[in-house]
Amino acid sequence: MTVDRRDHFDIAVIGLGYIGLPTAAFFASTGLQVFGYDINADRVATIAKGEVPFVEPGFDELLKNVVESQSLSVGTVLKPADVYIISVPTPLSSDKSVDPSYVFDAAKSIAPLLQGDELVILESTSPPGLTEKVADLLVSERADMTLSPDHGNSIYAAHAPERVLPGKIMEEMTTNARIVGGINPTSSERAKKLYERFCQNDVLTTDARTAEMAKLTENAFRDVNIAFANELSLICDELDIDVWELISLANRHPRVNVLQPGPGVGGHCIAVDPWFIVHSAPDQAKLIKTSRLVNDSKPDYVLSKIDTALAEIEPKSEYPRIGILGITFKPDIDDVRESPALQIAQQIASKHPETHVDVVEPNLGQLPQQLRSLANIRHTGLAKTVEQADVLVVLVDHYQFRLSAKEISQHPHVIDTRGLTRS
Ligand SMILES: NC(=O)c1ccc[n+]([C@@H]2O[C@H](COP(=O)([O-])OP(=O)(O)OC[C@H]3O[C@@H](n4cnc5c(N)ncnc54)[C@H](O)[C@@H]3O)[C@@H](O)[C@H]2O)c1
Repeated sequence: MTVDRRDHFDIAVIGLGYIGLPTAAFFASTGLQVFGYDINADRVATIAKGEVPFVEPGFDELLKNVVESQSLSVGTVLKPADVYIISVPTPLSSDKSVDPSYVFDAAKSIAPLLQGDELVILESTSPPGLTEKVADLLVSERADMTLSPDHGNSIYAAHAPERVLPGKIMEEMTTNARIVGGINPTSSERAKKLYERFCQNDVLTTDARTAEMAKLTENAFRDVNIAFANELSLICDELDIDVWELISLANRHPRVNVLQPGPGVGGHCIAVDPWFIVHSAPDQAKLIKTSRLVNDSKPDYVLSKIDTALAEIEPKSEYPRIGILGITFKPDIDDVRESPALQIAQQIASKHPETHVDVVEPNLGQLPQQLRSLANIRHTGLAKTVEQADVLVVLVDHYQFRLSAKEISQHPHVIDTRGLTRS
């Protein structure tokens, strides 16, 4: 399916997900002719109607404008462009290294269209060296092209990691500083000039490997610090200390800023990217690996607390009702990728088929398939769940739950992994 007759664009964005689609729309809003390419025909059809296929506050209007003005067109067949931006998934393989297959497929779709002088930008989060591999792949597919700059058949390549916060993309896409790292200085400069079209903050140039490592470093930094808070929460449970009070007291030190614990770490970035570092330098990345393991163990700990609460319910119920508040990987979004809350809901329902598991998730129209397939789970409302649950588990501090924090805190058996009832 292709929804445009033009045959050459300023930019083609490959992968129209949470990152690629806003990127395409922002470039289109600067007056460039942008083509968005995705292999998912349903997604392309939705976008072609000017509709956003995911929740991103404020983005609907921008997308509608650029689609209606035809500065953004979309299709399932890639079209030639001066610049290609790859924004496809970079998931973990079973050995926790990156699975580069989506990126390589994207590069293979670009190769036949190259005419010389194109800039290929990898926005997907990547381990050090992947941008160079993409560039190598392009010239191995096209022996008539070269990575040596300043020839008519030169191909330029850069990494431009995306660090926006889903839910705040409209703001952060323009206000965040950006890093661009080329395979050579010309590639860096060309990428810098491009992002300066909408980035109001600094666009900082470096080499491709440093740019790749910078993005991973940011997420590993967050992961290590969350692991510290999560480990504190375990220590505090053991020592009968209120972790929320403890952290708020410790944070009154002028140079201390302990993060908040939670049910684990999810999402496509923080739970994934540190593994790229661990896999790239396993002997050196000891702290980063341990932090991953601490954060990954937290859902099991929450599950054990639910087990204990179920065993302690008085009067005993043959079919206890567990209320789960939130299954996304963080507040106020609809993204459940790598979500520890989703994992906890799924595991508690499978482990205890005798229970009724009521999931309150105001950001989803329906529960994800892995929950819908379980007979004892239903998607329901907050008030009813707070009233009926024998055990109430706060896994995400969504805005709607924050508004009802008082009612939730009055529940007799609440397991609060987010400190909602303490605020
Ligand atoms: N979501 C985030 O918060 C975030 C933030 C920073 C960086 N990133 C990184 O950005 C990259 C993209 O993430 P996302 O969240 O946008 O992913 P996503 O899953 O939302 O979207 C990816 C899109 O790529 C499409 N796709 C897959 N293979 C393709 C191919 N060969 N050709 C064309 N389209 C293809 C998919 O159909 C999908 O629509 C990842 O590397 C991710 O780690 C994501």
